Amino acid sequence: MASPGIERVLERIHAAELPDFADLTFVLRVADPAELRALFGFADAVRRESVGDGILLRGIIEFSNVCRNTCRYCGLNRRNTHLARYRLTRDQILAAVQNICEAGIKTVVLQSGEEDNLGADWLTEVIAGIGRSLDAAVTLCVGERSREEYRAWKLAGADRYLLKIETSDPGLYRELHPGMSFENRTRCLQDLAVLGYQTGSGNLVGLVGQTIESLAGDLRFFKQGRFDMVSVSPFIPHLQTPLATEPAGDLMMTLKMIALTRIVCPNAHIPASTAIGSLHGRDERPRALAAGANVIMPNFTPNPVRRLYDLYPGKTGCDLPPQQSVAAIERMAAAMGRGVDYARGDAVRLKGASGCDPSRSVASSDADLAKGQCNSMYAN
Ligand code: 5AD
Repeated sequence: MASPGIERVLERIHAAELPDFADLTFVLRVADPAELRALFGFADAVRRESVGDGILLRGIIEFSNVCRNTCRYCGLNRRNTHLARYRLTRDQILAAVQNICEAGIKTVVLQSGEEDNLGADWLTEVIAGIGRSLDAAVTLCVGERSREEYRAWKLAGADRYLLKIETSDPGLYRELHPGMSFENRTRCLQDLAVLGYQTGSGNLVGLVGQTIESLAGDLRFFKQGRFDMVSVSPFIPHLQTPLATEPAGDLMMTLKMIALTRIVCPNAHIPASTAIGSLHGRDERPRALAAGANVIMPNFTPNPVRRLYDLYPGKTGCDLPPQQSVAAIERMAAAMGRGVDYARGDAVRLKGASGCDPSRSVASSDADLAKGQCNSMYAN
């Protein structure tokens, strides 16, 4: 039996405007099996109550692996000269989008490295091309850009944006991201929220130098950012990086972080990430789905470039055609007594009458921006 203590702490975290640091570190240190069951059960109940049983699908297209950055954990870092670089053409992207829509999936995620030469206008055209031909939400994940570029993409029809903080600990952030700044990262998140994007962030678990305290800080960062989507995934060492010999993130710690993210941000869409499916060569995504997650992102990047989007080794789903991945996810959901939900899966806050108009709204001037038609506390 779990002690009544843990239930009380979880209730307190759930109810808090900003959860107490000591409560979070207490739960992150839990190791007793009964207490772990209490944590995952609590998170699963919050998930059912706030986002339901359906598992939302997002079709991801990794359209370029070119990157200007040297993030110390990432296989796409520009110092990795062993990696052939690619960028899909507009037509190749639109063909992959077509495959996503034919699979019945209503969210397209366009992801790439951070590319100096990724023309904002080129991406604007791609987004507009998707919008013209298909009824799907468009999520971008292309890194740090200017507010003007974010605005242009929003006006072209982008709905959502993912930009993980990776770690909210500014010192650790600096060490892991040479030449980048925590301030610019949070500036981007703020701009995105103010522009009316459904905004996502997230972290990596198990980074060298990361402590229980910095993970607790990440959870508080998620709460303060009022994100619509939060991705928590384990670090997996890549040979062509400075962190090649570091251990991978711990699965149990990752699951605890997912559960706490659900409890702290009840309405967020939280993926059972591909990295969780790839850690230790076993697909552990069902455990993430049972600990608070409600999203899976099948890979629609075409072959032969798919294996070149080499963030970390052993990426799951890389050898399966997308239709087979989707069928496997259907079976995974059914085995858990849940189903796949083929809805767009917009942010929960957009379902009611409150706040800003859902998808296609954008602030068109800085005056509008200042009014803050969005969810983030950064804007207040
Ligand atoms: N292990 C796990 N995830 C990684 N990412 C980058 N490198 C790694 C790695 N070695 C993740 C980052 C980034 C996303 C696109 O891929 O969290 O936000």
